[in-house]
Amino acid sequence: MKIIGTGSALPKKIVTNDDLAQFLDTSDEWILPRTGIRSRHVISDERLEDLAEEAARKALSDAGLTPKDIDLILCSNVVNEYMTPGLSCIIAAALGLECPAMDINCACPGFIYAMDIAENYFLAGKVNNVLIVCAEEPTRMTSWTDRSTCVLFGDGAGAAVFTKGDNLKAIKLNAQPSIEHLYQTRTLLPTPFITKHETEQPLHMDGREVFKFAVTTSIRDIEEILSKTGTPIDGIDYFMIHQANMRIIDGIRRGLGAPAEKFPSNIYDHGNSSSASCPILLDECNRKGMFKPGDKIVFSAFGAGLLSAVAYLEW
Ligand code: COA
Repeated sequence: MKIIGTGSALPKKIVTNDDLAQFLDTSDEWILPRTGIRSRHVISDERLEDLAEEAARKALSDAGLTPKDIDLILCSNVVNEYMTPGLSCIIAAALGLECPAMDINCACPGFIYAMDIAENYFLAGKVNNVLIVCAEEPTRMTSWTDRSTCVLFGDGAGAAVFTKGDNLKAIKLNAQPSIEHLYQTRTLLPTPFITKHETEQPLHMDGREVFKFAVTTSIRDIEEILSKTGTPIDGIDYFMIHQANMRIIDGIRRGLGAPAEKFPSNIYDHGNSSSASCPILLDECNRKGMFKPGDKIVFSAFGAGLLSAVAYLEW
């Protein structure tokens, strides 16, 4: 398959580190050097499904397609206001589409997990065009009294349209299952029969464990996929790394021995928008005209699960 269109949408409210310092014991001097983040877009009066629809429409327009050209919608999403139906169905309804639609919850590497599913639909000959939308509102998962998590996240939606082609050179999904380092729980509605103890817990994160997992798995994933395809690190034009923390991205870059200009980043004014981060970054780079046909691009992402994924494709 190959990418023929990208789109993204962000909430209008921008929250700076200085804004956070108004109600949290934190500061720009603490956050910026440790994360690379100065501000983030945060949902206020928007609905996530509207951002997802906007990103999808922009990607379709960039691809020169109309909604009826799409044969499958895949949506990567961790939370939104609907438990059911899936966000993919809500996007399908908004676009007036009747094609199959499914959600995946693979946290931050969700864009690459969705790509892997899409590729298999293409290989099975079931689809001509697939729309992937990643829409996330992690700012609704964290406690806004927990300075070690809430400062990291921002909301948004990114989308890409894929069509038949052989531009996806390699893709690999990995899991190192463990819940305790990164999770959130919620309680469901009561019934007359529930006797177990249930708790609501805002996002819990062992920052240092996640940091180590991110850097080591990303370097390993990228080296593995490139060695399998016989591609040298310096043959890659762009490394699109999940925008979790600038120090994580720098650690990966140093581990690979690749120059900083090959690592586009928007974390400074976006924060970590979970699975939306890679397609938002992709769209921003695409709209700047950074990519030319044949450019070699690697995506690498990691997050709750603990899951990681890597993909290598040509523009
Ligand atoms: N402002 C000020 N102080 C803060 C703070 C904040 N926003 N957040 C934490 N601190 C404090 C802690 O309370 C702690 O204080 P103490 O020593 O008095 O207990 C101190 O800073 C160090 O905390 P620690 O958690 O050890 O900091 P760290 O150097 O590991 O950096 C992260 C914390 C979260 C920035 C870092 O671990 C990280 O980025 N991890 C990866 C997270 C991530 O990307 N997750 C998503 C992956 S998909």
